[in-house]
Amino acid sequence: MVTPWEVKGEVDYDKLIKEFGTSRINDELVEKISKKAGFMHLFLRRKLFFSHRDLDLILKDFDSGIPFFLYTGRGPSGRTHIGHLVPWIFTKYLQDTFNAKLYFQMTDDEKFLFRDELSLEKTENNSRENALDVIACGFDEKKTKIIYDVENIDFLYRIALKVAKKVTYSTSKAVFGFDNSTNIGLIFFPAVQAAPAFIENERGNDCNCLIPCAIDQDPYWRITRDVAPGLGYRKPGAIHSKFLPGLEGPKGKMSASEESSAIYTTDDEKTVKRKIGSAFTGGQATVEEQKKKGGDSDVCVVFQWLFYLFEEDDKKLEERKRKCKSGELMCGECKKDLNERVWKFLKAHQEKREKAREKLKDFEMK
Ligand code: TYM
Repeated sequence: MVTPWEVKGEVDYDKLIKEFGTSRINDELVEKISKKAGFMHLFLRRKLFFSHRDLDLILKDFDSGIPFFLYTGRGPSGRTHIGHLVPWIFTKYLQDTFNAKLYFQMTDDEKFLFRDELSLEKTENNSRENALDVIACGFDEKKTKIIYDVENIDFLYRIALKVAKKVTYSTSKAVFGFDNSTNIGLIFFPAVQAAPAFIENERGNDCNCLIPCAIDQDPYWRITRDVAPGLGYRKPGAIHSKFLPGLEGPKGKMSASEESSAIYTTDDEKTVKRKIGSAFTGGQATVEEQKKKGGDSDVCVVFQWLFYLFEEDDKKLEERKRKCKSGELMCGECKKDLNERVWKFLKAHQEKREKAREKLKDFEMK
């Protein structure tokens, strides 16, 4: 089950492409982006970004002089974890490659409405903290604007109203699973998440919008795309990533509400070591057994993290897999390697995150 609020069980990405009606990112598209960028991003090479809507058309338009801007976001339910960074790191690559403007939406309203235990003050405060992680990803401050829904609603409300008028309750029930017990704030909310996709068109600028995100956000874009033509806006395109799994198992996604399954960007060295130390692996119960039978890297979270984020070298990755399967490599060693890499990455991120405090104002909507 994949919804914007919950991912349960094993995710079958091929099935999602079919069910959601999206398209697979093919080699031609990967080549096209990589050529423009000057290098192929690891997330494309390892197919972490795997699906899209109209990416081909947006790139074609770009070649014929119609630019696009990027739009992505965060629902500030708590601290940022490494999974959240996946779409943001890729968005930064796209911003650099296509010299694109970025709108980043903080849905402090969504998380207030959705989570009983969260006050509005809390989600607004989380927005500011999460914004530091966004800025730490290195976005260009001249081309990037962070929208806090509650504070900046005046930028969105006119558009949200137009969208809301075109979406019936029965459509949003079918798309999001709303029912009679859903509060009415949430029922309106999809119009607010649709709005940034149309900011530029509303201002009279003829350009496309491309939304990088994990596949869980796609239900929003279905509605957004459906209403666009009737409002005189261009349909936004999207580029979807798979989920970085949580440390407790290869199924589902790393979730901010499961403390031990997530590594947060503000975790300290000791915490990172402890969490990775108890990660789910494909190893056997004892060292003897592991030597005899070998491990299973296909179900190993440590291997997946190396595959998607922390081991760029294909040959080294293959060799690690071979050694694991043949029983030459113990889980402790892989965990140690992953821990070193994750901490190196986080330490650098945390330094940039602290520096971002001074820059926060430059990124905010005026
Ligand atoms: P949120 O806060 O749930 O997630 C923020 C972004 O991170 C992606 N994501 C992940 N990606 C890889 N691995 C994971 N384990 C993982 N967990 C989450 C999400 O897909 C998302 O891209 N409603 C949104 C906020 C939002 C938004 C947007 C997101 C508003 N406008 C436009 C994307 C694009 C939310 O609650 O995201």
